[in-house]
This record gives sequence, structure tokens and C-alpha cells, in this order.
Amino acid sequence: MFGFLNKKRKSLTGMDIGSNVIKVLRLEMNEERPVITHFCMKDLPPEAIVDGEIMDRELVIQTIQDCAAEADLPDEPVASAVAGRAVIVKKIVMDKMSEEDAREAIYWEAEQHVPFDIDDISLDFQVLQDDVGADQMELMLVAAKKDMILGQAELIRDAGFDPLVIDVASFANQNSWELLSSGNLLADQPTVEDSAPADTGDDDIDGFEPAESEMVDQDEGNEQFVALMDVGGGVTNVHIVKGGVPIFTKDLPIGVAHFTEEFQKQLGLTWETAQQVGRGNLEDVDQDLVMDIVRTVGSEIYKGLEPSLSYLKTAGEADGIDHIVISGGGAHLPGLKDYLSEIYAVPGETADPLAGLDFDPDLFGSESPEHLSPLLTVCIGLALREGVNS
Ligand SMILES: Nc1ncnc2c1ncn2[C@@H]1O[C@H](COP(=O)(O)OP(=O)(O)OP(=O)(O)O)[C@@H](O)[C@H]1O
Ligand SMILES: [Mg+2]
Repeated sequence: MFGFLNKKRKSLTGMDIGSNVIKVLRLEMNEERPVITHFCMKDLPPEAIVDGEIMDRELVIQTIQDCAAEADLPDEPVASAVAGRAVIVKKIVMDKMSEEDAREAIYWEAEQHVPFDIDDISLDFQVLQDDVGADQMELMLVAAKKDMILGQAELIRDAGFDPLVIDVASFANQNSWELLSSGNLLADQPTVEDSAPADTGDDDIDGFEPAESEMVDQDEGNEQFVALMDVGGGVTNVHIVKGGVPIFTKDLPIGVAHFTEEFQKQLGLTWETAQQVGRGNLEDVDQDLVMDIVRTVGSEIYKGLEPSLSYLKTAGEADGIDHIVISGGGAHLPGLKDYLSEIYAVPGETADPLAGLDFDPDLFGSESPEHLSPLLTVCIGLALREGVNS
């Protein structure tokens, strides 16, 4: 069974196994501000992970090991994450009971809400309101497929590391964002215990853990619906939060690769040059056409999200999005942030988790910290997972 530990650590390494880029970043947390002590990122060839499935396991393991060696990581446990599509976040209402009893009852409740076999998932929850009338309480339910969590843990073990935490990528993104937005570091994240019926034999792995609403000041800014949009290599994860509570999370099958493909086709470029366009290098290309392509492909993100937003509105869960924070490699796609901000008619910003950390810029080699920052949101959120300021 998963043991959801709550040890405070003075350091933690985040290991973000993205479909395009593997990142490792270690934070030391015994300073006033967390300090990055080790860092490396390496590209994965496109055939290594396709549609979230690991196709070439040996290559992924080798790249993790190369990254760790280049970063000179110490022999310490790491925090990693599974992607959003293995995860369901849902608000539910159930009979009022103690948290302890709810931990048992949640499996029965979840059967009605989760389209997976209950024996195949790990569950967690957070009580949002302990009394909503009629002897009922409101919970946020988080369900993740166990085989994804166990598979990720095994991959990391095979690469020679101890997977202390397997989180959910979108929650790690949220962690990163909250570091800056609330100035409230996640030092005292309460322990949650998984009561998964099946014994998995993995008693030293922390499971996914939703951010706790108490951790964030309930000021006006936190009452906004903030859409954290991580535009990665292959997918865009949209994670909507309000006051530190995740409202909704969804993966859309559109990532930087889809934009790059269109640049290549419509501008007649090599894949390498098209990639450079996606990273904001617009020399010698028709900029108006690039913007048109970004808007057209970007509209797929908008369209993909629309049914869920309509549902949230109808269900009275959210009126809409108040603010957009874009992260991942796609944050550099020329005009994407402005397009999304325009179409939702809300302010948009680029995630900058490095702004909350101390580091020696030489750690990043020739890459500028400003450029790398949005790509590191998940990795930093993982490394922040516990023990900050302890
Ligand atoms: N400095 C950079 N280094 C590497 N890739 C970059 C950089 N700037 C932009 N990119 C682009 O961003 C993409 C990778 O973004 P990101 O690291 O967010 O993806 P990922 O985490 O590997 O993918 P996913 O989250 O979908 O699994 C690549 O397609 C790449 O072309
Ligand atoms: Mg990613």
C-alpha cells in the first residue's frame, strides 16, 4: 500500500520526465528562499515517448541517467509525476462523516464518479465544505490510475533512483505557481493516507497529494479562477484552481509538436528551423503567417476546453476563467499567450517559477534562466513538494 509520508526534508530533487525533455532539479530548502543546487535537462528523441506512452524504455532510462550524471545529483530520493490524463479531479457531495470514515467510504462513492475499476485506482480527497446542508459535505476527489503510478516508480527505480514521491504533474505545476502567487511555501502539507484496497507493496512512495486550501491566503486574488496551462511537447494540461483548490484538470492532445509541424509545412522549413520558430526565433520568416498558424492551432486548445468550461458553468462550479498562466515549452510559441488571453478576454502571464528561487545562473549553461523558467514549472513544483523552509 502506498505510504503517504509527511517527512520534512531539507532537499528534494524533482525529476520531470516530459515527452520531449527530461529535467532534473534539486532544491535545498533550509534557506529563506529555496536554492537550486543541481540542474540538468536533456531532449528525448520524439520516438522515445509517444502520446504519453513510453516506447523506448531503455532510452528514457539512459537519458535520466545521463541527466543525473551531468547534474551530478547526490544519491537521494526524488519526486516525480504522472501526467494529468491518468488523473481525475472532481467535486462530489456525500454524507457527512469523520475524515477517517470518509477514507473508507470514498471508495464506494468513487465508483459512481470515476470511469475506472475501483481496484485499479489510488484515491485521495480533501474536504472542501464540511456542511452543505441535508447532512452532506462537499469533497474534492482525486483519482489516479495505480498502474501509471507504479509504472513511473518502477522506471525511476530502474534508472537507479528512489522514487519517494509520485505526484500528479498538474498539482506540481500548481505548487510552483503558488510559490510565487501566495508567497506561502508548502512547508506543512498535511499528511494524507491512501486506503487503496489492493496491497501494492510500495510502502515508501508518497502518492499524489492535492494542494490544500489552507496553504494559500484566502485573499481576493485567490478567489479568482486561474487556468494554469502547461503547453508541453505533446499535450496541453489545463489545471484550473481557485483559492488553492483544484477545480478541474484536463489534458488536451495539442502540444508544441503540432505547432512545429504546421510551421514546417506552411513556411516550408526544416523541422529544426520550425522548432526554432516555436522557441520565438522569428528571423527570416513571415511573422504574420507564424501568428496566423499559432492562432489556428491555438484555437484547438480553446475548442478542446470549451465543453468542460460549459459543464463547469452549468454545474455552477465556475463562471469562467479569470486569469491565465502559461507554462511549458509552448510558453515561447510566438503570440500564443496573447491569443489565449484575447480569446478568453482575461489577463495572461508566462509562468516564472525561477523568480521564487535562488540560483547561480551558470547552472543553466548557455540557456538564459528567463527562457528556461516556464519549462521548469513541473520540475520545480516537484522539488518543492515537501519540506520547504523546514
Ligand atoms: N530551451 C528549450 N529547450 C528545449 N525545448 C524547448 C526550449 N524552448 C522551447 N522548447 C520547446 O518546448 C517543447 C518542450 O516543452 P516541455 O519541456 O514543456 O515539454 P515536455 O514536458 O517534454 O512535454 P509533455 O509535458 O507534453 O510531456 C519542445 O517541443 C521544444 O521544442
Ligand atoms: Mg511537461
